[in-house]
Amino acid sequence: MTCIKKLAESPGLTSIPSLYTYTTNPKDQEVSEDPEDSIPVIDFSLLTSGTPHQRSQAIEELGKACKDWGFFLLINHGVPERQMEAVIENIREFFDLTEDEKREFEGKNLLDPIRCGTSFNTSLENVFFWRDFLKILINPDDHEFQFPNKPPGFREVSLDYCKRIREVARELLKAISMSLGLEPCYIEKATNLESGLQVFIANLYPPCPQPELAMGLPPHSDHGLLTLVMQNGIGGLQTRHNGNWVNANAIPNSFLVNTADQLEILSNGKYKSNVHRAVVNSKATRISLAIANGPSLETMIRPAPELESKEKAAAYIGMKYKDYVELQQGNQLDGKSCLDRVRAFN
Ligand code: SIN
Ligand code: FE2
Repeated sequence: MTCIKKLAESPGLTSIPSLYTYTTNPKDQEVSEDPEDSIPVIDFSLLTSGTPHQRSQAIEELGKACKDWGFFLLINHGVPERQMEAVIENIREFFDLTEDEKREFEGKNLLDPIRCGTSFNTSLENVFFWRDFLKILINPDDHEFQFPNKPPGFREVSLDYCKRIREVARELLKAISMSLGLEPCYIEKATNLESGLQVFIANLYPPCPQPELAMGLPPHSDHGLLTLVMQNGIGGLQTRHNGNWVNANAIPNSFLVNTADQLEILSNGKYKSNVHRAVVNSKATRISLAIANGPSLETMIRPAPELESKEKAAAYIGMKYKDYVELQQGNQLDGKSCLDRVRAFN
């Protein structure tokens, strides 16, 4: 499988092959400039070490961000900027390896611990996305796996980064539980978070000669609980809010956080899993790293009974998370089509 990086570097490339021509309807080509569509910002340090008043205010703001957006910028998260930059630099060097060197990490099955590839699911797609990826299952770490050992140091800096992100995600899920009126450890317990799935998803979007005709990643929601994204300073992530597309412009040193499908299910629909996409540009290579944090694969996820009522019966059927992941990863990436499969009819 030829990676998009190699294609993008072909000398004299001025148009994209038809295999990459993605049709977006005119309404979806517009991006909102409305100040009402400005993404909420959550200050992590207030959640963890603010005064009781600051804490409860931050929890309330977080709940509102999950309800109205399913998306927020996280600042003051405590992960060192230097470490974030080092991980991105290592990812860049990884994608600079030769095709043969990367082929070693190709992987075949959806839940293979390491998978390097292009687009999303090339065995099913008629149109390919302008994206190369490297996916690594980090947690649970009970499987034999080799994090790529090239470039030197990639493994160490990335595993440490993922550990920090796990802690940040755990704290956020505590605050989210409280914002739902549940006990702080509710989500952690209901999802067996200790052995929860954590996936490292590095994305490379090379410059594209016809960016308006290509797509980096099509509109979709994520399958887990919370996804934390950082990037190399180049924008491209867009999030859907009130029917509009909004540029997710990161504040330097912040994380772009998506709430994902299992959180929508657990909260019985109170918090909406966010639909987002990645667009490409003609000037600069964009690198992003999404760390997806989810329940343990063997856990059945269903709406919290505390959030069901006579007026609001369970809006989703229960499903084992592993089955859900396979459903999403084994199909074409398409909006909230997976979540639609577990909606209850009542
Ligand atoms: C995604 O994980 O859906 C996209 C991440 C990105 O490239 O911003
Ligand atoms: Fe995503």
